[in-house]
Amino acid sequence: MTSSFPLGFRWGVATSAFQIEGATTADGRGPSIWDTFAAVPGAVAGGDTGEPAADHYHRWRADLALLGDLGVDSYRFSVSWPRIQPDGRHAERRGLDFYRRLVEALREKNIEPFLTLYHWDLPQALEDAGGWRSRDTASRFAEYAALVHEELGDVVDHWTTLNEPYPCAIAGYGEGRHAPGAREGHGALAAAHHLLLGHGLAVRAMRAQASPQHRFGIVLNQSPAVPVSDSAADAAAAARQDTLLRRQFTDPLFGGRYAPGLAAMFAGVSDFSFRHDGDLETIGVPLDYLGVNYYYRLHVADAPHREPDPALRTVADIGVDTTRLPEVPRTGMGWPVEPEGLTEALVGLHNRYPGLPPMYVTENGCVYADRSDFADYERISFLSEHIEAARTAAAAGVDLRGYFCWSLLDNFEWAHGYKHRFGLIHVDYTTQARTPRASYRWYRDHIAAERAR
Ligand code: FCB
Repeated sequence: MTSSFPLGFRWGVATSAFQIEGATTADGRGPSIWDTFAAVPGAVAGGDTGEPAADHYHRWRADLALLGDLGVDSYRFSVSWPRIQPDGRHAERRGLDFYRRLVEALREKNIEPFLTLYHWDLPQALEDAGGWRSRDTASRFAEYAALVHEELGDVVDHWTTLNEPYPCAIAGYGEGRHAPGAREGHGALAAAHHLLLGHGLAVRAMRAQASPQHRFGIVLNQSPAVPVSDSAADAAAAARQDTLLRRQFTDPLFGGRYAPGLAAMFAGVSDFSFRHDGDLETIGVPLDYLGVNYYYRLHVADAPHREPDPALRTVADIGVDTTRLPEVPRTGMGWPVEPEGLTEALVGLHNRYPGLPPMYVTENGCVYADRSDFADYERISFLSEHIEAARTAAAAGVDLRGYFCWSLLDNFEWAHGYKHRFGLIHVDYTTQARTPRASYRWYRDHIAAERAR
């Protein structure tokens, strides 16, 4: 390997509150949209819910010991909004205290906290008032962000507003696959806009009270769309896919404009009246970093809409077929293993948006069936190949500052429930025993080797 990662490059792991914490009614926590959604029969595989997850709320000290032994210098986690504001408005001291204890313990271990304010767990009370369809939720989010920032700004320097607004808006409000389980056109597009607006308002509110060392960013999922042929129709289909999944977010955040083509794609679905004067300036507030989550590329062919009746069609049904995968290995989720897609995502962003802030790979990881001895060689080669792909991007001139593996622990994988395991550490959900996989030891040794270079 060449040594193209800059000095001070960060090595970390990532988790999120709802996926690991469990304890969904402890210490005054209110219900989130994921508690409500998971209770709907058939919504989550196996009828799984946020209980028990990895019971991290009670076992966080032991988990931090595992984090320390792993040798990471950074830990990306999320704060549960319904622990902080159970009803979406009033502060719950016990929730704030939990994260203060966690962050102080990280600091004692010299592990830099990368705090994410929103990883999909909206307080149900705010959903009842319209959720992300409603412009008011963006203001509520900024208030919540300012509260957490005021409370923890003395111990946290890295502040991420949102994790992956795309699935939040489109899978959650458009396709009904994620919480809150809605299937709306206009509502989903409004949710995407209000998430971005909430991000901008939150950064402004936090900056107004920030210390100089504070850094503010956002995390986006990036699945580059590759046309399956060189036909104009497939190229246009891939462009539609990229507009929906990526440019709907990156153009207003970093390009100073709404994604060209988005409004035309959904002309009969929404009048985009949720876009108000001044919103673009708010959304485009300068950032200190962009986090990129990368798992796979999408291979896109032009195709008829899956649902012929426009009235019944979901917002993700944009006349594309993404099932024609190349002959490459797949993970246990069926996702194609294409590390070059990570290079492409990073270099592509760098080229498209002049003035883009520095980037981190904030999530990257995979699922494979376990062997009895937890010797997960496939995961090791997946991670190793993707780290090299990140290195290639850095060598090509991308300002890349760190890599976070998803995930420290097995966890609640959203609509898939507990079936799919992304952890470097295996969790037995009956006993809550933690067993580091071979990949945990590999990542530990890899980090040490990178630092010794
Ligand atoms: C990402 C999510 C994360 C996890 C991984 C596998 O989209 O941000 O919570 O579920 O996928």
